[in-house]
Amino acid sequence: MATKLTANVKAGGCASKLSPKILDQALRTVPRLSNEKVLVGYDKSDDAGVYDLTQPGGNPLAMVQTVDFFTPIVDDAYTFGAIAAANALSDVYAMGGKPATALSIVVFPQKGDIHDLQAILKGGADKIHEAGAVILGGHSISDEEIKFGYAVTGLIDPHKILTNAGAMPGDVLVFTKQIGTGVISTALKKGIVDPAHMDRSIEQMLTLNRLVCESMLGLEVHACTDVTGFGLLGHAREMALASNVTLQIAASSVRFLPGAIEYANAGALSGGLHNNREFVSSCVAMSDSIPSEIQSLLYDPQTSGGLLLSMTAPEAEKLMEDRPEAYIIGRVRNYETKPIEVRP
Ligand code: CO
Ligand code: CO
Ligand code: CO
Repeated sequence: MATKLTANVKAGGCASKLSPKILDQALRTVPRLSNEKVLVGYDKSDDAGVYDLTQPGGNPLAMVQTVDFFTPIVDDAYTFGAIAAANALSDVYAMGGKPATALSIVVFPQKGDIHDLQAILKGGADKIHEAGAVILGGHSISDEEIKFGYAVTGLIDPHKILTNAGAMPGDVLVFTKQIGTGVISTALKKGIVDPAHMDRSIEQMLTLNRLVCESMLGLEVHACTDVTGFGLLGHAREMALASNVTLQIAASSVRFLPGAIEYANAGALSGGLHNNREFVSSCVAMSDSIPSEIQSLLYDPQTSGGLLLSMTAPEAEKLMEDRPEAYIIGRVRNYETKPIEVRP
């Protein structure tokens, strides 16, 4: 490839995500229209919205809708497209849905290399097809800074929607990927990344949450969300607040991508990480003995991150037997003083 895809990404963080604080303030002013067909709306801070399609006398059916797009976080165009698709599909899996259709969102420079755009679209299409979904169309505009992603619609049984509410005291918290894609992409932009670390991070970002989703659908899951832009603690916060519980996370149980701790130590912390910390830390009782780079990583924005599940210990055992990448990072307790408690 001639150009480096990340070269034109403006400063401000891996995915130039709007600060959760600003987003929260803005959404507060949007009028809420109640509608009985809306089973999950944006007021719940959930992964995706769910709309009931069930017809009188027909089988229960609902659609799950979500959208996600961002600036390049890797230099290879095909890989970027595929990661953007995996990331956009993730919210459907986090609700327990099955992706059905996708619309692409393309922002590309008028004078950009057409081969890059072709590769981005090809990477995205291959990943959407891997998920068993189809692309129906999309929309494109021209701008100097590349952005790419999808609006995805999935189908779901309205009685089997997994939201971030429902975590119960006594549950264990299961997570299915490793943390650190944000610091590793920041290390790439700083030119300090070890290619082997980048490759491992890319491999994880390309992995669909599909298999974990399929496994969990046969089990009793009380709450589920995917860990993406708001970081592990940001998404844990949403689950804790929606479920009215305290999530107790053991920092030493959390697995980090190879190189992540090293880059966090070297200060490869994105703007998004700082925004997350600013927004979320008041909800977190963080043990002082946790090294600062580990604390930072718990706020690191993830791209195409894993699923965070709340379920009983026996059900978690079954999931971990089925999906060896799944592991326990903590447990759910009655609400104490803070929504999240992080212990060493
Ligand atoms: Co999500
Ligand atoms: Co979401
Ligand atoms: Co999302």
